[in-house]
Amino acid sequence: MTDDRERWNEKYSTDEEFDLPDDPIPALERRVDELPTGRALDVATGTGRNARFLAAEGYAVDAVDVSDEALDRAARAAEAAGVEGVTWIRSDVADFEFEAGTYDVITVSFFAALDLLPDIKEALAPGGVLIYEHHLRSSDDVDVGPSSDRYKFRSNDLLRAALDLTVLEYRERIRLDAAGRTQAVATLVGRNSAGGRQSYPRAE
Ligand SMILES: C[S@@+](CC[C@H](N)C(=O)[O-])C[C@H]1O[C@@H](n2cnc3c(N)ncnc32)[C@H](O)[C@@H]1O
Repeated sequence: MTDDRERWNEKYSTDEEFDLPDDPIPALERRVDELPTGRALDVATGTGRNARFLAAEGYAVDAVDVSDEALDRAARAAEAAGVEGVTWIRSDVADFEFEAGTYDVITVSFFAALDLLPDIKEALAPGGVLIYEHHLRSSDDVDVGPSSDRYKFRSNDLLRAALDLTVLEYRERIRLDAAGRTQAVATLVGRNSAGGRQSYPRAE
């Protein structure tokens, strides 16, 4: 992944159509009241929408991204919003030391990291929750997503890779993004807990 820094810096600097949302991913916003509090990690944070939201909710957040340009924007957006509590870490995730048993919440959005999922899951504290959202391969045409299927998950890829967590939610669907564009998305919410008798969030 040595080229990623250059490639993503260039994308942020030159691709005028590449515009990440300001709002956190919907599953994080919807679930925040039932998540354990404490430390959070946002993997491939981009312009920091999840990290900013978590810090505003009181989490001590580590936010990692390979792109200097993304992190500059993320830090400026947090400052403009008056949000403190995020440590911005410029690193390739392949080189990042995921400290075992550390984070109460980990978010990954729109970054394909199935190969790193064992390290990510191990970094969850006992009872910690992973919220992961990513593009899906789809036979329907959609407006948003990588041009190549290479960077999209197949049906159930994410679910299969997270079956050692307690899966609180797994969904695959086409939905509209904030700008009204269609995207095919998988969302997983999983908790680092095991055993036949657990407590579960109340369904609405
Ligand atoms: C599509 S953006 C998503 C950003 C953010 N998670 C969001 O949902 O708004 C993908 C991000 O992954 C970062 N990225 C790509 N390769 C990476 C790597 N090897 N290590 C860390 N970050 C990486 C890019 O710099 C970019 O900010």
